[in-house]
Amino acid sequence: MPMCADAAMRLDRLLTTLAVGSRSQVKTMLRAGRVTVNGQVVRSADAHVQPGDRLTLDQQPLDARTTRHVLLNKPCGVLTAARDSKQPTVLDLLPPAYRACGCMPVGRLDKDTSGLLLLTTDGELAHRLLSPKRHVWKCYEATVDGPLNAQDTAAFAAGLELSDFTALPAELEILRSSPQEAVAQVRVREGKFHQVRRMFAARGRTVTALRRLSLGPLTLDASLQPGEYRELTAQELTELLAAVSKEDAE
Ligand code: URA
Repeated sequence: MPMCADAAMRLDRLLTTLAVGSRSQVKTMLRAGRVTVNGQVVRSADAHVQPGDRLTLDQQPLDARTTRHVLLNKPCGVLTAARDSKQPTVLDLLPPAYRACGCMPVGRLDKDTSGLLLLTTDGELAHRLLSPKRHVWKCYEATVDGPLNAQDTAAFAAGLELSDFTALPAELEILRSSPQEAVAQVRVREGKFHQVRRMFAARGRTVTALRRLSLGPLTLDASLQPGEYRELTAQELTELLAAVSKEDAE
């Protein structure tokens, strides 16, 4: 994985963006000769770096990428927000450089929902994924507090009436059902507040566990434990960009 700078910018600005230190700490680091660019010590704060330049700090390679696309397996109990004064947020699960680069969650999972959460520095990509016009499919695994049956599947497919809107037709695949509990996969094309929980509530069921398995072409990486993350692969990013470049993805 290349770790070189991916945009032309002032060296001191890049180092601050990477959360290496405050602006004045970065100046001091540079003056002390601790930073190299392509093997040369650079002491001047107003030097510029170019895409592809390789940096080191204290002889260690510095991951200088400021463009980030992160696939996180969100654990339950963590807020989908950049910061919160009281509770842990998804940004707290990533190294400080991600927050410093402006990496933000795309949409929102409830505090008690786990699974696939995309975070990106690309505001346009986030906007496109969230646009109600694009109808990007999301798949969830839901556990509910009672049985589900073919009538529930038909009601999801018809478009459930909620208090303030009618949900678009959705797919409900029942994986197992008993009088006490059922587990199902739900595919929806909207992302309204508490949407999946509210859809089950409209059928008289309470969701006891909810996990997102996919977002458009992205699927939850089974090797990621809750709280773990990785960068998107080049292929995942290509597929994601292709999915949102369609005027109105089905
Ligand atoms: N629907 C919900 O009800 N909650 C989520 O976190 C995501 C979808």
